[in-house]
Amino acid sequence: MNLKIKKILNKKNKTKIICLTSYSKNIAEILDKYTDIILVGDSLGSVLYSFDTTKKVDLNMIIEHSKSVRLGVKKSLMVVDMPFNTYRNKNEALKNAKKIIKYTKAEAVKLEGGKKIIEIIKYLRKNKINVMGHLGILPQSHKGKFKYKGKTSKERKNLLADALLLQKNGVFSIVLECIETSLAKEITKVLKIPTIGIGSSVNCDGQVLVTDDLIGLNLTSIKFVKSFYDIRKHIDTAVRKFKEWS
Ligand code: KIV
Repeated sequence: MNLKIKKILNKKNKTKIICLTSYSKNIAEILDKYTDIILVGDSLGSVLYSFDTTKKVDLNMIIEHSKSVRLGVKKSLMVVDMPFNTYRNKNEALKNAKKIIKYTKAEAVKLEGGKKIIEIIKYLRKNKINVMGHLGILPQSHKGKFKYKGKTSKERKNLLADALLLQKNGVFSIVLECIETSLAKEITKVLKIPTIGIGSSVNCDGQVLVTDDLIGLNLTSIKFVKSFYDIRKHIDTAVRKFKEWS
């Protein structure tokens, strides 16, 4: 087993797992001191390119950003999102996962979904590709308003079953996006692998956030996104000083 993954699995029930996104080398370098996982998320589509959906992010785009991120990641596990329409069947998924890993030296890929994509995940694991799962709100297939998942008993049952199925088939952790608090807690308790929450309460084994949101670089109105800093103010000051000096 990959040693970084082993270390992450060992953190379950001990210390919180820190996961942040990066789309470039300089940010990755700063994050790497604090993070366990650096994710090249397809959120880069909305954050950097103002796309209205992550579906517009393609393989080439994620590979180019990941190559840059790779230059800044030393200690953390690097995970790359498989973009929309790059894992429609198992052969396509394996070909594209291999391509991502070959060009970016990422240690794992992340795919959105549970039961629906389980044959694909099985095939990737059979071929020794490390996989991170993603349940709850799935931006690549989501339609309409963002609503918390796990409010009805049917949804709760299905999400718990999906989480167990992913675990059984070898994913090393699961991102839980916008899952109702008590369900996130239950899934986290039942699973042996860590859950990484975003908008899913503090009851998960770790947390993930889009770094551009965290530092206040990306202006977002999403309710569950917490900004911890206003980096725009500092960039503004630097640019103003440069203008005054010129
Ligand atoms: O694309 C992304 O950045 C993600 C995280 C928000 C989990 O999937």
